[in-house]
Amino acid sequence: MSTFEELFGRPPDGRWAAPGRVNLIGEHVDYANGLCLPFAIAERTVVQVAARTDDVLRLRSSAEDDGFEGTIDGVGPGAPGAWAGYAAGVLWALRAAGHTVRGIDLLVTATVPLGAGLSSSAALECATALAVDDLFGLGLGGSDKGRRTLAAACIRAENDVVGAQTGGMDQAASLLCTQGHALLLDTRDGSTRQVPFAPGDAGLAVLVIDTKVRHRLADSEYGNRRASVEKAAAALGRPDLRDATLADIEPLGEGGNGELLRRARHVVTEIARVRETVELLDRGDLAGVGPVLDASHRSLAGDFELSCPELDLACATANASGALGARLVGGGFGGSAIALVPADRLAAVAADVTAAFQDAGYKKPDIRTAEPSAGAARDT
Ligand code: GLA
Repeated sequence: MSTFEELFGRPPDGRWAAPGRVNLIGEHVDYANGLCLPFAIAERTVVQVAARTDDVLRLRSSAEDDGFEGTIDGVGPGAPGAWAGYAAGVLWALRAAGHTVRGIDLLVTATVPLGAGLSSSAALECATALAVDDLFGLGLGGSDKGRRTLAAACIRAENDVVGAQTGGMDQAASLLCTQGHALLLDTRDGSTRQVPFAPGDAGLAVLVIDTKVRHRLADSEYGNRRASVEKAAAALGRPDLRDATLADIEPLGEGGNGELLRRARHVVTEIARVRETVELLDRGDLAGVGPVLDASHRSLAGDFELSCPELDLACATANASGALGARLVGGGFGGSAIALVPADRLAAVAADVTAAFQDAGYKKPDIRTAEPSAGAARDT
C-alpha cells in the first residue's frame, strides 16, 4: 500500500475521520420529513489530505485500485464515477454553495465496512467535508450550525453527483452525533437533540449483524419506496406524511392493491415509534426499546417489503436466543440487522445466529457490537 508521500510527493496537511452510523429507529422516513434516531459507531473512514493552490483534485484510496484526477469544475452529475464521486462531489457542492475551496490531494486510508448498511459513503463525504473546511478556513466544523451546512453539501454530493436519492440521515449522524447519545433528527427542519443512549450502562449492547447480502435490487427499490411515499402524500393532498394519522391515510386503501396505504402506514407508524423510543430513552427504560425494534422490523418487512430471508433469520434467531428486539437497518434488501441484547447473552446470540446462517446455507455473517460514538473530527 502506497503512502501519501509516495503518491503525492509531499506529506499530508492532516488526517480527518468520520464515523459510520447505525440507525436505532426511524427507517425510511428521513426523505419524508420524518424523525430518525441514529448513533455514530466506532468504525471510521479516515482521509489524509493536503491543500492545493490550484483547482486540481487527486483522489486515491488504499482499498481501491481506481483513483481520480481532474478539476473541481469537471465534477458534476455522474462524474467522477465510483467511490471518488462521494469525495469530489463534496468540493463541487461547497463551491456551488458559494464557499471558496481549492483543489486537494486526498488518500483514504481506512473505511467503515463497505456495503454493510453502515454508511461508508456518508463517512467518506463527511471526512472530506471536514478536511476541506479546516484546510480552506470555511469555519463551519466548529458548530452544529456549521456542520449542518457541511452535511447539506455532503447530501448534494450524494444526490446530485453520485445520483443516489438518499435522505440526509447518514450525513447528519456522521457530523453531529456525540458519544453516549443517539441523535434525534427532525428532517423537516433539520433540528437535532442529543438523546442519552448508553446501552452498556444498562447491561445491554447493540449487536450489528451484517448478513453479507448485497442485493442488486437495493438501489432501484430504494427509489421506488421513496417515490411511493411521495405519491401517497400527494394523493392525500399533503406536503408529506409527517403529521398524518392512521385515519388520515385510510383513503389510500380505496381501489388499487393497497400498496400506497401499506407504504404510508409504515411511515406513519415508524415516526410514532421514534417518538416512543425517545420517551423510553428519556425515562432510562432501554430494555423497553426491544419490542419497538420488533414492531419496526414487522413494518419494514410487511408494509414496506424491504426485508430478505437472511435479515428475517438474523432477527428471529437473535430474539429466540435472548435478544430483547431486532430489526433490519438502513436501506434494506441485505446489509445489516441490529439486535438489542443483554450483555450476558451477547456471545450466545452471536453463536446462534452464525449457526442458523450455516444451517440455512447462507454466508457467514459479520457480527460486531456498536457503541454510540463521537462524530467526525480531525484526527491529528
Ligand atoms: C439509507 C439512506 C438514508 C435512509 C436510510 C433508510 O441509509 O442513505 O438516507 O433513507 O437508507 O432509513
